[in-house]
Amino acid sequence: MRINKYLARCGIGSRRNCEIFVTEGKVKVNGHIVTDLATDIKESDIVLLNGERVSPAEEHIYLMLNKPKGFVCTTNDEFGRKTVLQLLAPEYTSRRIFPVGRLDYDTEGLLLLTTDGDLSNRITHPHNEVPKTYIAKVEGEVTEAELGKLRGGVILDGVKTKKCKARLKNLENNISSVEVVITEGRNRQVRRMFDSINREVIFLKRTAIGQLKLGGLYRGMSRKLTDEEVEYLKLV
Ligand code: URA
Repeated sequence: MRINKYLARCGIGSRRNCEIFVTEGKVKVNGHIVTDLATDIKESDIVLLNGERVSPAEEHIYLMLNKPKGFVCTTNDEFGRKTVLQLLAPEYTSRRIFPVGRLDYDTEGLLLLTTDGDLSNRITHPHNEVPKTYIAKVEGEVTEAELGKLRGGVILDGVKTKKCKARLKNLENNISSVEVVITEGRNRQVRRMFDSINREVIFLKRTAIGQLKLGGLYRGMSRKLTDEEVEYLKLV
């Protein structure tokens, strides 16, 4: 990276101001004063401005993963199970990246991972009520009356779930696919909501978080969020 860009990334000033520091001889690289604006800086270089070490703030990483079942959403599992971090490239796992919230071991779908703790807190904070969309499959035909119970709220651990959306998307081979949109993140919430109406979830996948959609991302694959997606998440 060019020296002026590097210094600007360190939060010292605009690139133009940083050029002036360089030409005035205020910048040392690996012990030598550098005045050539064409100097490139490597990550391993030691850069001083007026004798003080400066280093650029690292950019945060924001990823979307299509989590397969059979992986835990922790950075380290006490039972030795595979973690979602094992699905990421080493360039990401060499940083302090972590999942935003959790999906169960048996649940698949959209999982965000980031190094940005503030953003993660905002998305998972119950106050912000970010809607999360799931497809739950259950055996047999789910009735409107059952969906109505889910929508109105069911009692889990003595506390009613918030109103939510629930609609039958598809009925094929005697399996109902129900789309559920919840704004809470209680433990195994969707599975337990169905348990409460005596329906066992046999497949569960998260397809969206707010306006962010999993789309056609292959199972086990991840991608960086676009700048627009990151901006959107910062506003939720
Ligand atoms: N609800 C569940 O039951 N499981 C999940 O992983 C997410 C929501």
